[in-house]
Amino acid sequence: MIEQKEQVEKIREAFNQEFGRFVDLRNKINSLSLSVAENLQREISEFKTKHTGKKSEIANAKKLIGRVAPEERGAFGQFVQTVEKKIVTAIEEAETNLNNYISEAKQERERLDITLPGRRPRVGHLHLLTLLRQQIEDIFVSMGYAIEDDREIETDYYNFDALNIPEGHPARESQDTFYTTDGFALRSQTSTVQIRAMERRGVPLRIIAPGRVIRRDTPDMTHVPMFHQIEGLCIDRGITMAHLKGTVKEWLRRLFGKDTVIRLRPSYFPFTEPSAEFDFSCFKCGGRGVFENERCRPCKGSGWIELGGSGMVHPNVLKACNVDPKVYSGFAFGFGLERMCSLMYELDDIRLMFENDVRFLEQFK
Ligand code: DAH
Repeated sequence: MIEQKEQVEKIREAFNQEFGRFVDLRNKINSLSLSVAENLQREISEFKTKHTGKKSEIANAKKLIGRVAPEERGAFGQFVQTVEKKIVTAIEEAETNLNNYISEAKQERERLDITLPGRRPRVGHLHLLTLLRQQIEDIFVSMGYAIEDDREIETDYYNFDALNIPEGHPARESQDTFYTTDGFALRSQTSTVQIRAMERRGVPLRIIAPGRVIRRDTPDMTHVPMFHQIEGLCIDRGITMAHLKGTVKEWLRRLFGKDTVIRLRPSYFPFTEPSAEFDFSCFKCGGRGVFENERCRPCKGSGWIELGGSGMVHPNVLKACNVDPKVYSGFAFGFGLERMCSLMYELDDIRLMFENDVRFLEQFK
């Protein structure tokens, strides 16, 4: 039996040696690529046939059982079986590990990511005109002014007559606007709100009225038929031109910096007397007219930016609102927002602000 046992031992050793390359599979299995793992799977199945199949050495060894002495047969038989079992178990364990790994890897490879990235909502922002308007509103609110809002469709009375522009007055022509068939007019200036505010609130009062105005203008680089103005009105006892000057200067300083200076130039408006146009020192060149050795663009080299009209409210306007001009006086001013905006941002064409091209608008947040 010694001889046969040695033979079986040899079979076991030969198996152990050959099986060696599958032994540490357990440790490195996770680093195998799927194709390598599949090759190994084929090899191991061939290996299994070779070492456990009908023609395997261990199968042959069973034939030796009959050749050992009968009293030793039982023990030898058991020994052969143990060896065979070890061989089978070792191979099956390696095989199972490999199969599990392959099916997991396949599942992983075939996994579909069915989640779609969400659609990011585009975050909007306020229009540049709105931003500037709000900035100016904040300044006036901090100076004790109320924001007054009113209608865009007016009667001739509010757009012209009450503002001391009687029928036939040439100022009507320069502000010619659109009329409805019932004789209503789209307001051509926010000055209408002066009348509405005095009627509604009485005096004294301090308001600014931002709003839309319409004129019969053909659109070009500096004109659009619809634009925005901000109107200001301050009525109280003892209001003088000095208050006008101080107020205009103060809000422009708060907007453009404390070095800003203003100037008033005599002018004419039907609803103010005396009247003045107001300019302020250019925010870009600081009034020098030259910026980086070139003629400053916003002020065209003059150092001044012409902004709007102003003056002391005409007694006829006060009377139209039942305010006694002997007791009360006041100043008013008005200017266009689009013009101011296009100067501030050096826009060549005022129409850009209304074309709604997001690429343009996005630049001003
Ligand atoms: N309403 C005038 C315009 O549209 C601007 C204006 C001038 C408003 C003088 C005023 C003012 O309040 O006092 O051209």
